[in-house]
Amino acid sequence: PTIYVITPTYSRPVQKAELTRLANTLLHVPNLHWIIVEDSINKTLLVSRFLQGIGLNYTHLNVKTTRRVRRAKVHLVPRGMAQRNLGLRWLRDTFGHSAADHHGVVYFGDDDNTYSLELFEEMRSTRKVSVWPVAFVGGLRYESPKVNKMGKVYGWKTKFSPRRPFAIDMAGFAVNLQLILSKPQAYFKLKGVKTGHLESKLLAELVTLSDLEPKAANCKKVLVWHTRTEKPILLNEGKKGFTDLNVEV
Ligand code: UGA
Ligand code: MN
Repeated sequence: PTIYVITPTYSRPVQKAELTRLANTLLHVPNLHWIIVEDSINKTLLVSRFLQGIGLNYTHLNVKTTRRVRRAKVHLVPRGMAQRNLGLRWLRDTFGHSAADHHGVVYFGDDDNTYSLELFEEMRSTRKVSVWPVAFVGGLRYESPKVNKMGKVYGWKTKFSPRRPFAIDMAGFAVNLQLILSKPQAYFKLKGVKTGHLESKLLAELVTLSDLEPKAANCKKVLVWHTRTEKPILLNEGKKGFTDLNVEV
């Protein structure tokens, strides 16, 4: 099966560095298709050129996150959601009419996390939804599905809202492409769902707990890290910029 990695990304000083690091990982993974979705009105030159030169199979999409003001408070749509949804839509538009011919696995891979190559081989055999631990989320060294002796997931080792039906971070699961195609109405809800419950809500539309396939040595191994890159301080650039703005960073 082909692994489809859906990656939301947005312009900021470290973007090219993040994409370089992620691409360098993905280049080691056989049979992979990168669906990279920019949070922008137009596709940027930086990302377009980057993708052209990198030697990965990819699809380049874009959709700008809409921000709406509610009750005088700025309500932010959770980051990356519109982009992940567009990735799902692309998969359905592209493969929906010939679903049976396309064997694949879909993974939501943010541009800043750290991925072991083992993770991709673990997820490749996903029949419905596979799950595994994620490091550095929820104020813990790692969060993890709880797996019993029979190899079945029966709960969630998390501090944040462990009673969510699927208390799992975006980086902690993969979905079989056939399942995505067979439930064409399943998208991340942009309204009416609390941040931190979006993954759970989507998975609830796709599977039940007993369907989950624990990977990474029955969830005893950490193969993905929710790393976050420090924002560089560029104060010496000043308002007009000190360095040559024609040089892409
Ligand atoms: C956490 C979760 O791990 C994400 O799954 C979740 O989408 C996010 O919070 C959120 O809802 O706010 P975190 O590391 O805090 O992730 O968020 P980022 O890494 O900043 O953003 C997640 C993804 O969305 C990244 O791939 C990033 O490039 C992208 N993003 C971020 C956008 O496309 N637009 C933005 O304005 C910000
Ligand atoms: Mn992140």
